[in-house]
Formats: sequence, C-alpha cells, structure tokens
Amino acid sequence: MSYSLPGPKAEAILQRGNAVFRSGGNYQKRVAAAVQAGKSQRPPQTIFAKAEGDFLYDVDGNRYVDFQNGWASNPCGNANPEVIEAVYAAMKQYGFCYEHPLRYELAEKLLPMTPYGHHTRLNYEVSGTEAAEAAIHMALCARKARFIISFDKCFHGMGMGTKLVSGYSSESTRYMEAWKGGVLKAPFPSAYDAPADMDIEQYVDYCLWHLETRIPSYDVPADLIAGVIIEPGLAEGGNWLPPKRFMQGVKRICEKFGWLFICDEVLTGLGRTGKTWGIEHFDIKPDILVIGKNITGGIEPIAVVTATEEVLGDNTYSSSGSTYAGTPAGCAAALKTLEIYERDQVVAQAAHLAEVAAKRMALWPEMFAIVGEVRNLGMLMSAHIVDPNTGEASVNWGMSVGDEALRRGAFVVNDHENTIRLYPSLTMREETLLEGLGLIEEAIRHVEQQGPLGQDDDVYYPHYYTGFTGY
Ligand SMILES: Cc1ncc(COP(=O)(O)O)c(C=O)c1O
Repeated sequence: MSYSLPGPKAEAILQRGNAVFRSGGNYQKRVAAAVQAGKSQRPPQTIFAKAEGDFLYDVDGNRYVDFQNGWASNPCGNANPEVIEAVYAAMKQYGFCYEHPLRYELAEKLLPMTPYGHHTRLNYEVSGTEAAEAAIHMALCARKARFIISFDKCFHGMGMGTKLVSGYSSESTRYMEAWKGGVLKAPFPSAYDAPADMDIEQYVDYCLWHLETRIPSYDVPADLIAGVIIEPGLAEGGNWLPPKRFMQGVKRICEKFGWLFICDEVLTGLGRTGKTWGIEHFDIKPDILVIGKNITGGIEPIAVVTATEEVLGDNTYSSSGSTYAGTPAGCAAALKTLEIYERDQVVAQAAHLAEVAAKRMALWPEMFAIVGEVRNLGMLMSAHIVDPNTGEASVNWGMSVGDEALRRGAFVVNDHENTIRLYPSLTMREETLLEGLGLIEEAIRHVEQQGPLGQDDDVYYPHYYTGFTGY
C-alpha cells in the first residue's frame, strides 16, 4: 500500500503557501528540483485534517501512524480529550487573567517531581525557547558572569538568544555570528564526528579536555563562565546520545569550577526517555532544569524553568516570562497531564514501549545496508541513514526514507537531516507501534532497493529549515 501524495486537496492548499509564506512554499521548490533532476515521482507531502490519539488523517482521507507527535509534545496522544476538557474549563472560568490560583497549584505539584527533588523554585514561560533563554539569564545573574558554554549539534530554540547558543550548524546563525559574544562552543562526542582514528573513548577524553583545559586556558577564565547548557539527548540536532562518562565528566568539571549545570529537558523531559527526566540516566543533579513540550499535554503552551534555592532563591537581576507565561489554560493543561501521568503510570508505559521498539529496531543495521546505526534512549528513537556506497550519513537517502514512510502511512520526524527520528506518544498502543515500525521497515527496504529519490543532497533537499509542510 502506498498513498499518492500530495493528494488533490493537499496539493491545492500547498499551492496557496507560495503566495503567503516567507520565501514562498518550500514544497514547490522541492517539486521543481525533482523535475530538474529528471524524477518521475513528485516528493510526497500532505496537510492534516484531523489528529486523534496515535493517528493523523490528511485532507485527502489518508491515515498515518504518528511518530512526529506534535514535535514530541503530545505524551498522551493527539487531542487528548481529558486535557482539552480541563483547558476548556480553565478558559471558561478565567479567560486570560494573570493572577490565578492554578499557578500556585502547578508549582507545588511540579517542584517535588524535579530530579532528586532538590529544586525549590520556578518561573513560568511560554515556550521551550523562552524557558531556555530565561535559564541562561538566571545562570549569568546567579554567578555574576557573562559566558555560557553550549555544545556542537545542540538545539535550544529559535529565539535570538537560543539561536546563538544552539549548535545546529554555522548556517543557522548566518549574519548573526557577531552576536555570539557570550557563547562558548564545546565539542560533543558523537562517534560519527570523531576525528580520523579516534575511537569514541578517546573522543570523549578529547571533548572533556576541551571543556576543562582548553576553554579556561585559551578562551575565557573559568570564573567568568556561569555554566553549561546541555540536553541529556541531543534530539533536534539528530538524536545524538551522550555517553554517560561524558555527561558525568561535564558535571565534575562544573563542580570543579563552580559552573551551573543547566539541563534542557524540553524534549527529553517527562518520560520521553523512559524515565521521568532524561538526566536520571546519568545520575546527575542539575542546578537548573528547562521544561516544555510534554508538560503542555499537547494542547496549550506552557514551559517552566526550575532551579535550586541557591540559584533562584534571590536572583534579583534576571527577569523572564512574557505576557502569556503561565496562563490559566496552560497551567490547567499541565496539571491534568501530570494527573494522567500518575494515574496511568505513563512513564512506565513509555519504558515498556521503548523496550518493544528497541528489540525490533536493533535488527535494522543487520537487515538494511542503509541503516548505519539505531540510536534509542527510551522513546527518543532514531535510525541513522547512510549512503550504502560510502557508509557516510546522507540527507538524500535519509529524507527518501522519511518520504517513503509517509507514502506508506507513517509520519516520522525528518526535516533536514539523514536521521529519521521517531517520537510517538508515550501511551501508543503496542500494536500501533509495531504497525508503524513495520511501515518504516517497508520504506527502508524500498529505498534500499530503488535508490534515493533525489540526486544529491543540495539539489533535491535544499539545506534550509523546512519543517514538514515546510515554510
Ligand atoms: C531541547 C530543546 N530545547 C528547546 C526547544 C525549543 O522549544 P520550543 O519549540 O517550544 O520553543 C526545543 C524544541 O524542539 C528543544 O528540543
């Protein structure tokens, strides 16, 4: 079974994007590139008409198993009716007024749940971006220092500050380079980046040496650095999972110099990795925690920064939290989501599903020449797609797998990279998970046999940020 995408209704909507979105619609550019490359098939794309539970339905009536999950934001399935009801009730009661009791209720509920329960204070924000930026300012003010360290491949958001801190690629901050004054970048040990002849253990040593010795010796004295910001799994950067020895080394260096350890759990938090917090896999007590995505229940935006008494007990100079931070509806969504987590043991469900998926996906590198490796931490799951002729990561082959999966009815995260990432809801039915993985296997097999859809990475899949429906 393979859908012909885009269907006529989706195509008509996609056309409209050309006139109204920044630089026009990306879809038409991909079509033009396909024609130029002499391809008979159009790149698939669609527009969704309905999201329900573990599925999405497009405007042409096709059904998809949802591995994209509102960009990993719907822990208990799409359009969760209980969360919607709670949000609706809060909206009816409070509309949007700033001072309301749900802020207090959520704070009291959430703080004891933070890793090791040692965070005593928090601030509400609207998005993960805003929360990551707030966390950095809090750290700078707590330490009275002007520099922050972040890592290659990391992603912390799309605001001005977070773009500068993120490490996607030099392209993502084109013409903003000079604004990076306070950001120090450190290498992140993924085996695929290791310089020639270095094995991963040697590369971990090198990365830690860079952090502990090179930066303070040659860039900025240690006492002027406020801390590091790091993800327990570099999700958006390509699902790179840090070795435990590296994470513990980073923490040791932070303690040595008095740097704050800011843990960005926007994507990994609240069960995504099979534990409540990703950082629990590394036995590390973070000083500051950044929370987003899952806590919204997938319905109403809210994000949070939590921290120790030392950091936020008296943090006079930092300020954050814009107009819509901590709305009644956002707090109600979070409270209901946490209630469902407790009642339905959502994190345990995620851990079980992760085991089922890991068992199945572990076979992929043996089964398929184009799967270089599988990188899973709980339900933070991915397959690293390579060109079988070179063994090198290939955007062209990777995006072809994403495209073929879509044609077969599995929607994966694969916006600009060789890796296909799978972030299903944490409560997906086991049979749906297996059905979806089966569809992805068919897609991989098809691409392996037929070759990639494009000709080379730059022509067919231009290197600009597309998102899925891409503007
Ligand atoms: C680790 C991390 N931090 C921050 C963000 C930004 O969150 P938002 O898109 O809600 O602003 C993201 C988004 O994907 C993320 O993955």
